Amino acid sequence: MSKPKVFIARKILDQGMQLILQSCDADVWQDEMPPSRPELLERVRGVIGLLPLLTDFIDAEVMDACGANLRVISNHAVGTDNIDVRAATRRGIAVGNTPGILTDATADFTFALLLSAARRITEADSFVRSGNWRTWSPALMLGSDLNGATLGIIGFGRIGQAVAKRAGGFNMNILFHDPNQVQLRSDLNARPVKMDFLLGNSDFISIHTPLTQETYHLIDKAAFEKMRSNAILINTARGAIVDPEALYQALRNHRIRAAALDVTEPEPIPPDSPLLDLDNLILSPHIASASQSTRERMSVMAAENLIAGVQGKIIPHCVNPEIYQQPI
Ligand code: GLV
Repeated sequence: MSKPKVFIARKILDQGMQLILQSCDADVWQDEMPPSRPELLERVRGVIGLLPLLTDFIDAEVMDACGANLRVISNHAVGTDNIDVRAATRRGIAVGNTPGILTDATADFTFALLLSAARRITEADSFVRSGNWRTWSPALMLGSDLNGATLGIIGFGRIGQAVAKRAGGFNMNILFHDPNQVQLRSDLNARPVKMDFLLGNSDFISIHTPLTQETYHLIDKAAFEKMRSNAILINTARGAIVDPEALYQALRNHRIRAAALDVTEPEPIPPDSPLLDLDNLILSPHIASASQSTRERMSVMAAENLIAGVQGKIIPHCVNPEIYQQPI
């Protein structure tokens, strides 16, 4: 019996790739760069399953290019903002993601950024390497304390809560804002508050909400104006939650103290972006989940969703389970 035809939009780690190759007739995009739109539309023709990365935009046009046999889109990410999930649901196509397994790696990385910005680690590294370190000095590179500071967490799902758990170890007070979580979390020493209260009362603000129409540019000029002047903003969620122009003005004018971003709008950040000239901004290339074991497990989870989908089974991690209410 012939194997189901699938398109894999990039080489993923071996653990997941081997599973796919055992069960599917896989066309794997070999380039480091994503397929262009015309290349994607051409290569997906006739596939039953599609495995995109978060850099691949899968909308109705791509689904229609796949054809009527497409059963599953297995995203190699927990976020699914690169997929038109509604269009998939209308067509009865399952959309899979990789929840849970990247929670700790992402929360760890959030804390790495938070500590780096608070204690100016990247600035200090450049200072030493560029030969500017002449002697010990009482006022050299003064930073912010975590002990007793308030951390405001926007989005209190799995990752937001894992960040709160780590903050407990640093004796931080925690405020959170999440429309789906309104109960006091005394186990995490965390208090639900309105967005404006969080913005005005946090020394650190960390974003852990998905990108949706409601959260697009949630952190805009008005939001920066509500923040404390010592505030440090961390974003490991999605770049477009923060308005880049408003961020630039807030950092340049010292409206807030600093920011550390693993995600930007757009990605990659353009080489001529004025953000790159700021020394109160730390940037990393969307690597919060990039620990070896996490990426291995993500590859396996994405493979398992894909394989179940092409075999006509209910996929283990489905973001639109309502499709199973319809006949498949
Ligand atoms: C990474 O950003 C993910 O959504 O998995």
